[in-house]
Amino acid sequence: MNKKIVLLPGDGIGAEVIHAAKDVLTAISKKFNHEFDFQYCDIGGIAIDNHQNPLPDETIEACKSSDAVLLGAVGGPKWDNNPSHLRPERGLLGIRKALDLYANLRPVKGFEKLLHASPLRQDIIQGSDLLIVRELTGGLYFGQPSERRDNGNSVVDTLTYSRKEIERIVDKAFQSARLRKKQLTSVDKANVLESSKLWREIVEEKKSDYPDVTVNHVLVDAAAMKLITEPTSFDVIVTENMFGDILSDEASVLTGSLGMLPSASLAEDGVGLYEPAHGSAPDIAGKGIANPIAMILSAALMLRYSFQLEEEAVAIEAAVERVLNQNYHTADLKSEDGKLVNTNEMTELIVNEL
Ligand code: NAI
Ligand code: MG
Repeated sequence: MNKKIVLLPGDGIGAEVIHAAKDVLTAISKKFNHEFDFQYCDIGGIAIDNHQNPLPDETIEACKSSDAVLLGAVGGPKWDNNPSHLRPERGLLGIRKALDLYANLRPVKGFEKLLHASPLRQDIIQGSDLLIVRELTGGLYFGQPSERRDNGNSVVDTLTYSRKEIERIVDKAFQSARLRKKQLTSVDKANVLESSKLWREIVEEKKSDYPDVTVNHVLVDAAAMKLITEPTSFDVIVTENMFGDILSDEASVLTGSLGMLPSASLAEDGVGLYEPAHGSAPDIAGKGIANPIAMILSAALMLRYSFQLEEEAVAIEAAVERVLNQNYHTADLKSEDGKLVNTNEMTELIVNEL
C-alpha cells in the first residue's frame, strides 16, 4: 500500500513526539511492505513565526491532498499574548474546520501494567474501556458572535448547533457502539441548554435506527463524576464539543497519564487527522522526556480508520503493551520499581518490539 502522510509537528513536545510516530510507521512499512511518504508542514506557533499565519494555505492544501494527517500539538507561552487571529489554537481549530473533521474519537483503555499509575483506586479503574465520541466542529468553540463588548467589560460566546451537525455525530456514535458493547451514553445539559434539548431529541429519534444499541442520557456534571467513580459503566459516550474536550482530559486519568491518550478526527468522507489528546506541554518541552505513546497510538488509529490496516494497528498496540509489561515507563507514569526511559528510548523499545 502506498500512502501520503502529512506530519504537522506543531510546537513544544508536539515536535518531539511526531518523530516517534514516524519511526514507528517506518518500522510498520518495512514489516508489512507498505510505502509511506511523509511531508512536513507548519501549523500553530511555528507557523506564526515562519509565515505570520497559524494555518498557512500550503498546509491546508497539503493536508487536503494527502491520505491522512498526523498532528503533534500546538501552543506555548511565547504566543499567549498574541491577538486572537495570531494564536496557535486558531491553526488547530482552522484545520479541523477546513477538513470538516466533525467526529473526534477518543478511545480510553487502561493498560493492565499501568493500573498503579493512576491516582484512582485500582478496583475502580480495572476493566475500564470506553470511547468518547466528541463533536469537533460546532458548539461554543466556533459559534459567532464571540467577542468583547462595552469596552471589554462584557463578553459573549455563542453555542450553536444545527440538526445536521448533531445527526451526523450521533450516527457516528451509534455506529461506533455497534462495533463495541452496544451501550451508548449521550451526555448533555438538557435541564438548562436549548442546544442540549435538541441534542437529546435527536438521540431519541435515532434510537429506532439502531434497535440493538442501548441508550441512556446523563447530564454532564453527573457524567464527570461517574467517569471517575464508575468508569466501567461506560461503553461509548457521545457529546458536544466543549463537554467532550473536558471529559476526555478527565478520562485520561483512567490510563495513568494524558501522555497515553490517542485520538482520531474524522470527516464524512475525507482525510482523517490523528493527534494525541495532550497539548504542547511547555513545562517539559525541550527536555526529551515526553511520553510518545499517545502519539504512537494515534498513528495506530490512522492505520485502522484511514487505511483499514487493522493488523498493522494491532501490531503497534501490542508492541506498546509488551514494552509496558517489561516495566519501562516515561517520567509522567509514576512507578516504584520500573525502568525510567526518555522519549527516544521509549520509541526505540516499541520499534524493536515490532
Ligand atoms: P498539556 O496537555 O500540554 O499539559 C498538561 C500536563 O500534562 C503538563 O504537566 C504536561 O507536562 C503533561 N503532559 C502532557 N502530555 C504529556 C506527554 N506526552 N508526556 C508527559 N507529560 C505530558 O496542557 P496545558 O499545559 O494545559 O497546555 C499547554 C499548551 O498546549 C497550551 O498552549 C495549550 O493551548 C496547548 N494545547 C494544545 C492542544 C492541542 O494542540 N491539541 C490541546 C491542549 C492544549
Ligand atoms: Mg483539550
